Amino acid sequence: KRVSLIGAPTDIGAGSRGASMGPEALRVANIGPILQSHGLEVIDRGNLSGPANPWQTPVEGYRHLAEVVEWNRLVHEAVHAELKGGRLPILLGGDHCLGLGSISAVARHCREAGKKLRVLWLDAHADFNTSDLTPSGNIHGMPVACLCGYGPKELVEIGGHVPAVSPKWIRQIGIRSVDAGEKRLVHEAGLEVFDMRYIDEMGMRHTMELALATLDANTHLHVSFDVDFLDPDVAPGVATTVKGGPTYREAQLCMEMIADCGAMASLDVMELNPALDVRNATAHVAVDLIESLFGKSTLMRA
Ligand code: ARG
Ligand code: MN
Ligand code: MN
Ligand code: MN
Repeated sequence: KRVSLIGAPTDIGAGSRGASMGPEALRVANIGPILQSHGLEVIDRGNLSGPANPWQTPVEGYRHLAEVVEWNRLVHEAVHAELKGGRLPILLGGDHCLGLGSISAVARHCREAGKKLRVLWLDAHADFNTSDLTPSGNIHGMPVACLCGYGPKELVEIGGHVPAVSPKWIRQIGIRSVDAGEKRLVHEAGLEVFDMRYIDEMGMRHTMELALATLDANTHLHVSFDVDFLDPDVAPGVATTVKGGPTYREAQLCMEMIADCGAMASLDVMELNPALDVRNATAHVAVDLIESLFGKSTLMRA
């Protein structure tokens, strides 16, 4: 398998600075060589270069909209180019607003290649806000809504097809923080959400069986991994921690079951914030989990 690392060093859509250092922290945690040691052919494309973070207050419900558009365009083109070249892109974030650029590129590729798309959104948050609903104006709380067609024209149209994805293709896992207005829109759109209550009651195994059900040989599986999916005890190095997330073991099982289904063809690793981390421990945990995502197992060869 041929994979490409794409760094997107920005915190343009976040409410705290620091996720811009995420790509380098993942490299320092050895993401490239470790994936290579599992038999993958890894190319590190280096970092995209986009606008600086002007750190302004929100305007009409959006903080840094113009810069977010620019970064997402860059990510969209970079991710699409890798898919077109037959490679598996791994986007190293950067904040989660870039999930829009990444997944719209995946959706465009699927349209071109005649593939079905399934998106697994691993996150503490639904990221389904709009400018009317957002409590913060931070666009990293909006990418899923934008992908489904709810959002400003400039963002919703990236990728040339509106909506870029249908809510029916998305499964959200680990959710435990959804804003009041956002909840209404999640229901209205019919998003399938496996929240922490569901995981508590049914277990990670059953959750993943359902989230991965009805995939076939023609399905492109995209995984968008917001590191705040993990319990903050395991992953302190994110800005928007929410207690009560998956444990290390639950997260490992989640990743292993994704690997077993064999369909993953693109990945985002988002919201890692080295400024808040403890000796890069969260980057190491993320890399650990990514190894499982690519098939590392205790007893079988990767
Ligand atoms: N729901 C909150 C907001 O919209 C938090 C979003 C957090 N998103 C994230 N990708 N970390 O401001
Ligand atoms: Mn294509
Ligand atoms: Mn989140
Ligand atoms: Mn997120």
